[in-house]
Amino acid sequence: MASAIAIHSLSVRFQTDFPVIENFSLNVPNGQFISIVGPSGCGKTTLLNLLTGMLPFEEGSITIAGSSPVIGNPDIAYMLARDSLLPWRSALGNAYYGMELRGVSKQERKARALNLLKRVGLKDFENAWPKTLSQGMRQRVALARTFALTSPVLLMDEPFAALDAQTKLQLEDLTLELWENEHRTVLFVTHDLAEAVALSDRIIVMSKRPGRIIADIPIPLPRPRTVQALHKDHDFHQIYVRVWEKLQEGLGEDADQK
Ligand SMILES: Nc1ncnc2c1ncn2[C@@H]1O[C@H](COP(=O)(O)OP(=O)(O)O)[C@@H](O)[C@H]1O
Ligand SMILES: [Mg+2]
Repeated sequence: MASAIAIHSLSVRFQTDFPVIENFSLNVPNGQFISIVGPSGCGKTTLLNLLTGMLPFEEGSITIAGSSPVIGNPDIAYMLARDSLLPWRSALGNAYYGMELRGVSKQERKARALNLLKRVGLKDFENAWPKTLSQGMRQRVALARTFALTSPVLLMDEPFAALDAQTKLQLEDLTLELWENEHRTVLFVTHDLAEAVALSDRIIVMSKRPGRIIADIPIPLPRPRTVQALHKDHDFHQIYVRVWEKLQEGLGEDADQK
């Protein structure tokens, strides 16, 4: 199967000599939902910034959606932890903003955005301003905006980290639903292990800085999945514990001190 993302021997340093990411290699096949978990500061966001071309690198190589990382590549969509909605645009205007930047015709972008808003449960809120929406609703709009793009590769950086537990579960289910329709390649960064296990085909566990891959764990749970059903599932819990143990190993001495 062709790779949507191929990273080879990547190492990255900022000003100091102490690397942020070291000797990092990863192949993500087309259509895979892969999560990256790892302690805060291990370089997860840095990795996404490298993949989108926002950060240059000198050591190693990256191919994503068939080319080198380049800012504004329409084959990649990027969703962040904070909803980053434009306050002067309605929910609908925000939902089609990404498509607008990519030159999708007004008629098409409106139709697609309305469809996605409906699917994320915001059918009656298309004209609402972001400030009148709850944080969960704003993140639904951001989810709609991301999935409304036709990009084959989606990068998501802790998109639900700022949400309360209940809303987070709802949005995880929505993500499963949206993804299961199309099976695009998703690289999903999270520090929530249950979220990673529930959503992914595969989980990469990173060590503390300098971030290296310490485990590559397949998640053979059947699909379609719902978060609620998974939380009662024996296999789900076994995999969760395995990922958790690997993460502890990656914390090394820090974990011993706690
Ligand atoms: N532009 C930058 N200049 C210098 N150091 C940075 C920069 N961006 C991130 N870092 C450092 O790199 C490390 C990894 O950061 P980050 O990728 O944000 O981690 P994570 O997303 O895994 O929490 C941290 O130690 C952070 O302080
Ligand atoms: Mg981060």
